[in-house]
Amino acid sequence: MSDMSPATPDEVISGGPTHVAMIMDGNGRWAQSRGKPRLFGHHAGAKRVKEIVRACPDLGVKYLTIFAFSTENWKRTQTEVSGLMSLFRRYIQNEMKGLVAEGVRVRFIGDRVRLDKKLIALMDDLEEVTQENTKVHLTIAINYGGRDEVSRAVKDLACDVARGELDPETVDETTLTRYLDTKVLPDPDLVIRTSGEARISNFLLWQSAYAEYEFIDTLWPDFTAEVFAQCVSRYAGRDRRFGGVKK
Ligand code: IPE
Ligand code: IPE
Ligand code: MG
Repeated sequence: MSDMSPATPDEVISGGPTHVAMIMDGNGRWAQSRGKPRLFGHHAGAKRVKEIVRACPDLGVKYLTIFAFSTENWKRTQTEVSGLMSLFRRYIQNEMKGLVAEGVRVRFIGDRVRLDKKLIALMDDLEEVTQENTKVHLTIAINYGGRDEVSRAVKDLACDVARGELDPETVDETTLTRYLDTKVLPDPDLVIRTSGEARISNFLLWQSAYAEYEFIDTLWPDFTAEVFAQCVSRYAGRDRRFGGVKK
């Protein structure tokens, strides 16, 4: 599969992934290797997102889900956390017009309770103004953790059972799926993690049960549309069996 010639972003790759999820890692190391503060890397990383979103239609990628801030990232210094939160606010303000114009529908996943009110209002606005768009579905995970998401889903489900609105005997995989933040999204076909770490760090645990993974050494601020296209092209060469046997 790795002997396939690298694809360029302007060619549609047949058998490519419909939904790509991205663990955008390595911003801190990218900055530190340049003698800069970690936030410098986060700003460089945020600039990359536009290029990757723009590459999606030509690659046949309809859904892109990006991990921006995990439920565990609050452990970082106050400077880094508040810098990231203000970066998210500024990002939404600056990109809103362009996202509307380019046909991108934006959604957010994650628990909003710990986020500041201004950021939540901007997230609501961006979801609302892009809700008619269908070209690319961009989902941004902020204060997102897979275990947290499943726990919140189970809590909501239990409340519906307690209220008599759900018969516990009917609960199956599809029932739980309906309570997840991602309920309107298909499962990811391909999960890419940058920066050389081979772990998923609590991202889309339930949804990625049968995803293909790409762990690549590139740090997120260096992740170009070309590297993205190469990942998509390698995916197209994989054989997904979902527990069955090859036909
Ligand atoms: C990923 O980059 C972005 C966030 C987690 C917000 P990191 O900040 O984790 O960068 P490294 O892994 O320390 O290099
Ligand atoms: C995962 O990266 C979270 C995001 C990319 C937002 P981390 O850098 O937080 O993950 P660990 O700590 O290396 O597992
Ligand atoms: Mg990291």
